[in-house]
Parts: sequence; C-alpha cells; structure tokens
Amino acid sequence: MKKRILTGITTTGTPHIGNYLGAIKPALKEAENYDESFYFLADYHAIIKNSNGHEVSESVKNVALAWLASGLDVDKSFFYRQSDIPEIIELSWILNCVTAKGLMNRSHAYKAATSNNKADEDKGITMGLFSYPVLMAADILMFNATHIPVGADQIQHLEMTRDIAARFNHIYKKTFELPEAIIQSKKDTVPGIDGQKMSKSYGNIIPLLSTENQLKKAIAKIVTNSLEPGVPKDSSNCTLFKLYKYFANNEMIEEFENHYKEGISWGDAKNKLFDVVNNEMMPVREKYKSLENDKNLLNDLLKEGSKKVRPIAQEMLSSIRDIVGIKKIS
Ligand code: ADP
Ligand code: TRP
Repeated sequence: MKKRILTGITTTGTPHIGNYLGAIKPALKEAENYDESFYFLADYHAIIKNSNGHEVSESVKNVALAWLASGLDVDKSFFYRQSDIPEIIELSWILNCVTAKGLMNRSHAYKAATSNNKADEDKGITMGLFSYPVLMAADILMFNATHIPVGADQIQHLEMTRDIAARFNHIYKKTFELPEAIIQSKKDTVPGIDGQKMSKSYGNIIPLLSTENQLKKAIAKIVTNSLEPGVPKDSSNCTLFKLYKYFANNEMIEEFENHYKEGISWGDAKNKLFDVVNNEMMPVREKYKSLENDKNLLNDLLKEGSKKVRPIAQEMLSSIRDIVGIKKIS
C-alpha cells in the first residue's frame, strides 16, 4: 500500500511565520519519507468561520502563494483547492450518515464555542461548525491518506476521522485506511509578538509574505521587558530568544545566549533576530514576488492540480456510492 501524507490549511487570514514553521515547512520536509504527498487549501472549511467572501478568496491566494514560495513542488506532489474537488462534499454527506451525533457533541472546538452559552446552549452554532470534523474526515478518507501532519490542536479531529472510518468499514465493508496523525510537538508552538501563541485570532503575527521593511517593523514590535542595555537578561522565557531558536544553528544560539548574559540591548537583540529570520525569508520572498506578479499562474496551477486529483476522488467516490447503494438500477 502506498504511504500518502495529506494536510490542509484553512484559508482564513494571512499566513504567518507560525504557519510556516509549524505546518508548511515540516509538511514539505515530511514528504521525503512518503510515496505521495497531498497539500490542499481548505476553503470549504474557511466559510464556516468567515462570511466575508472577499477575505476568503484573498486568503486562498495568499495561502497558495505561501505553500509555493516555501518550496512546494507541484510536479512532485498533489496541490489543490478543496472546492475544486466537489466529490469531497458528497463524501462528507455520506460520512455524516454514519457519524454519531454524540461524537460531534464531544468535539473540543464545539464545546469551546458553546462554553459561555446559558439559556440557549447552541447559540451561534451553525451546522457547518458542528460537523466540521466530518468534512475533515472526508478530506482525508477520500484519498485514503495514511499520515496526516497537523498541529496538536487537531489530534481530536484525527481521532474522530479514525472513528468515522472504522464505523463505515464496520457497517459496510473495509473501505478506508485508518490514518495516523503526525503531531508537531506542543513545545514547538511559535510565539507571536506578544508572547502568546502566534495566531491570526490574536492579532500578534509576523506575516510570512512580507517585505524586508514589514518584517523589520513586526520584529520591532515584539514585547520585551524594560531592562536597560548592559543589564544581564534571561533568555529562557524570552519571546525574542524563542523565535531566534527556530532560525539559528546551535552555535549561534549559544552565542546569542551569551549576549543575553552580557546584557545585550533589546534593540541589538531585535536586529540579530531580524538578520536570521530575514536570511531564511529571502528566497521565500523572491519566489513569492515572482509568483505574485504572474496573475494566471495560480489559476493554472490549481486547474492542473484539480486535473490530477479529481480522477482519484471520482474513482474512490464511485466505489463508495456503489457500496452504499447509490448506483445504477440492476
Ligand atoms: P491560526 O492560529 O493563525 O488561525 P491555523 O489554525 O489556521 O492558524 O493554523 C494552520 C496551521 O498552522 C495548523 O497546522 C497549525 O497547527 C499551524 N500553526 C498555527 N499557528 C501556529 C503556531 N503559533 N505555532 C506552530 N504552528 C502553528
Ligand atoms: N482543520 C485543519 C486546521 O484548522 C485544516 C484541515 C482541514 C486539515 N482539513 C484537513 C488538516 C485535513 C489535515 C487534514 O488546521
């Protein structure tokens, strides 16, 4: 059996350094260990949380550019937009029909969204949000992906996918592989400029597709304490230092730690951080610029992607339809 990795990013907002370090870079690296890799833009997932159509389509463009600028090779992988593969939605419905509602009730994301509700316990909850994990299961099971690189917050969704797959296999016949999650360690959560997890929801991001100047400005905004130059500083719980570690080798990290002990000024520390981040971002930025100016390129690439991926989905869906009895009358 082929070892296939698959992962998607929801297309809401601007991709940031956290997405790059925590999702894009490791997923691209991981591809080396598998026979095939599937990367997609989860725009059906995006409309669950974002009802601004312009923002969603802008984000599709930016997330696609982020993958490509970070080195995704479309000739060696399957790269597509979820909504270009409508078979996923049909599979999602079929899976809805075997998914226990109780399983969805236990979803952390659903529980978090309802935690402050009182009289009406489902206030503000759409069916899209409630059945989010079923759509995610359809993304994965459609291609019988075997390994799914995701952040730690997605562990439960993967367990639910396995659950749904096993239930379908049990009710009908063995159809789906049970996928395994490849979890990026919680320790590796990239901090944002305020020290919390970098997230578009917290407005604390360092954007991935930024100019040198924008990068410099974002780094300048990183919150530090008010210790003066010359006063020794503690690197162990410092946002700047944590970020530095993602971009530097061991020798550089040790040296930076010594600078802290010697009382480096925050201004100098920020310049050092800028240098290492900028160094890694330079080729990404160059690639981004060349892609951004070619307006047709993205549409062409996504069209190609769907041409490669859709036949696989169609074949799989056709056998699933057959199994559940949606077929020619005999
Ligand atoms: P956001 O929190 O900005 O909304 P998403 O939830 O869209 O980001 O995350 C997309 C991918 O990027 C996920 O795989 C997630 O685990 C990863 N990711 C997001 N933020 C971080 C972070 N601060 N550190 C590490 N990985 C992250
Ligand atoms: N739920 C994932 C996230 O928010 C995105 C996603 C959608 C996904 N479908 C997927 C990830 C399938 C892996 C596999 O990060």
